[in-house]
Amino acid sequence: MADETKPVTPTITPPAGEATAAAVKTGAPAAGHSASAATGANPAATPHATATPAARPAPAPRPPAAPIPDLAGKTTTGASPGGAPAAKAPASAAAAATATARDPDDTSPLLTRRAWIGLAWGAFSAASVAALAATGRFMFPNVLNEPPQQFKVGFPNEYGMGVDERWKEKFGIWLVRVADDIDQHVSGFYALIVTCTHLGCTPNYLAAESKFKCPCHGSGFRLTGVNFEGPAPRPLERARVVLADDGQILVDKSRHFQRELGQWTDPEAFLKA
Ligand code: FES
Repeated sequence: MADETKPVTPTITPPAGEATAAAVKTGAPAAGHSASAATGANPAATPHATATPAARPAPAPRPPAAPIPDLAGKTTTGASPGGAPAAKAPASAAAAATATARDPDDTSPLLTRRAWIGLAWGAFSAASVAALAATGRFMFPNVLNEPPQQFKVGFPNEYGMGVDERWKEKFGIWLVRVADDIDQHVSGFYALIVTCTHLGCTPNYLAAESKFKCPCHGSGFRLTGVNFEGPAPRPLERARVVLADDGQILVDKSRHFQRELGQWTDPEAFLKA
């Protein structure tokens, strides 16, 4: 039977977790466990062993725990309990620092909000520079390689009667010398524009047939430029032709003469020679 008159010394037993933590911090054994481990006695049989700490010998300081390699090659230390790789500790620390650097409401999984804003500004700046470059390029268009509208084609005595095709490709005209013009009724030169009056194709000069023939729809023009077959609705046009100050023939394509308008009788539509 228990002695009910014997005074009982009050003992305050901390929770198991606190006791273990205190033991880890101080190196002292946990209550109810380390004492039994030291003495080899059953803790259940000595419930009051912790009631008199003054009589207990001071525990010897523990040497620092040596790293223990496990089968996976990991090293178990006090800093990495449970065999966590020690090399991962700095990465974890960096991740924790990054997490603490973010705004509390920044939940972006890839980049921080500041990084996204920087990326957006970079893209906007690049687009602005490209638009500015395109605008600058628009201010300086390509050089047009169109032939000049006025050009000299040599002296009158360099030409014989008939059609001269030297200037068809370069300037887009046939220079024709005739003994009797259809409208001026004198000898001289006229310059025919090499553009079909149907839909704008370039006719060919057929010397054997003494005519100009359009390859697109078959329109035919006489050497005077008057249309006589095919869908072309009117004669070829003539360009202004005059004698330059140096005596050369000057052709001016900026001014056209149309026969259906009575313009072939203009003095500059024909160069007398
Ligand atoms: S474009 Fe010359 S005939 Fe049609």
